Amino acid sequence: MDVMVTGTGFVGSNAARKFIDEGYSVVALDLNPTRPDYLDGLEGKLRVAKEDVTSISALEETINKERPKILVHTATFLNPLESFNVFEINVRGTAIALELSRRHDLTLVYLSSGAIYGQLEGNEDLYEDEKFGPLYPPREYDNASGTSYSMSKRLGEQWCSMYRDLYGLRVSALRLSWVYGRGISDYRLNSGISLFLRKAIVGQSLVLPYGGDSFCDFVHVIDVADSIYKSAMVGRPRNFAYNIAYDRAYYMKEVVEAVKKIIPEADLSLGPGQWPSEGVPIPRGGISWPSNRHMNISRAKQDLGYNPAHDLDRGIREYFDWIKKNWDLCSPEKVPFKA
Ligand SMILES: NC(=O)c1ccc[n+]([C@@H]2O[C@H](COP(=O)([O-])OP(=O)(O)OC[C@H]3O[C@@H](n4cnc5c(N)ncnc54)[C@H](O)[C@@H]3O)[C@@H](O)[C@H]2O)c1
Repeated sequence: MDVMVTGTGFVGSNAARKFIDEGYSVVALDLNPTRPDYLDGLEGKLRVAKEDVTSISALEETINKERPKILVHTATFLNPLESFNVFEINVRGTAIALELSRRHDLTLVYLSSGAIYGQLEGNEDLYEDEKFGPLYPPREYDNASGTSYSMSKRLGEQWCSMYRDLYGLRVSALRLSWVYGRGISDYRLNSGISLFLRKAIVGQSLVLPYGGDSFCDFVHVIDVADSIYKSAMVGRPRNFAYNIAYDRAYYMKEVVEAVKKIIPEADLSLGPGQWPSEGVPIPRGGISWPSNRHMNISRAKQDLGYNPAHDLDRGIREYFDWIKKNWDLCSPEKVPFKA
């Protein structure tokens, strides 16, 4: 196999598909492997295995057997309430991915997050060399940004950066903004674009007097997969860390309009202003990005040749088609609405 992908979740499964489309073969590892529809029928090009990224011996055995040249490390654990597991999987798992990349001369693509920027003020574009804001204690309206998850991503990046400098490793870190699109994990189906689309499909109203001006730095997962592929091809890019978002950010009211272009009868509307932090049926967490600043992607465009193709209309259309096709996975019977 040419490429090893840890994590067959949302980003990992789309990355696997991208490499296969480009003519590579992939071994994908996950503690709880899933096979979304777009990975069907790829026998011979894809092997999916149940494996734990915190086991260096198991991973090394797979590397010895499969002889990949590229490692895409997406496996992650998000639940901020389980800090020890967050550390174990996100930090220790990354240290293992790095050490194995060094021993076996692999190119490593590390999936980082915009959450590492922490608590920032202002509205201007956010560049990679911005000084990070505090992560702790979380402000009442922060979601993942003030938690162990963000901290683990910072540590992961720093460990990667150290390996790049100390050992000359071919490694890059992609700081993803808020990803949406085909193959999204269950636990995200009640937030953001997913929630609006699912409500519209079943004909349920979502009418709230607030939130239309909430700022969301959305990026489509197919564009993310493309950035991973391009980063792997460059190997050791000029810089280490790259923002991966779309050309511009959107407001939640624009999401509502984009959904209505596909389902005109949808009873969706948001009033003006930000999403409040408390006392609302759908909490702000998961709806808004932690700051009002768009992650500028000019560095990724210049160094990696990244050029996202999905504006909100195109991205939501693609996602809508996938949800309809996979309604057994996305319906409220399978993943109940929380409000
Ligand atoms: N989705 C987003 O909006 C987003 C935004 C910013 C950054 N990211 C980053 O992108 C990467 C991928 O995220 P995702 O959205 O695909 O998450 P996901 O939850 O959909 O997938 C993560 C996968 O990792 C697997 N995993 C967890 N522990 C494991 C272990 N010990 N061994 C093997 N596999 C294990 C899970 O089973 C899951 O399939 C992560 O590093 C995340 O931090 C994602």
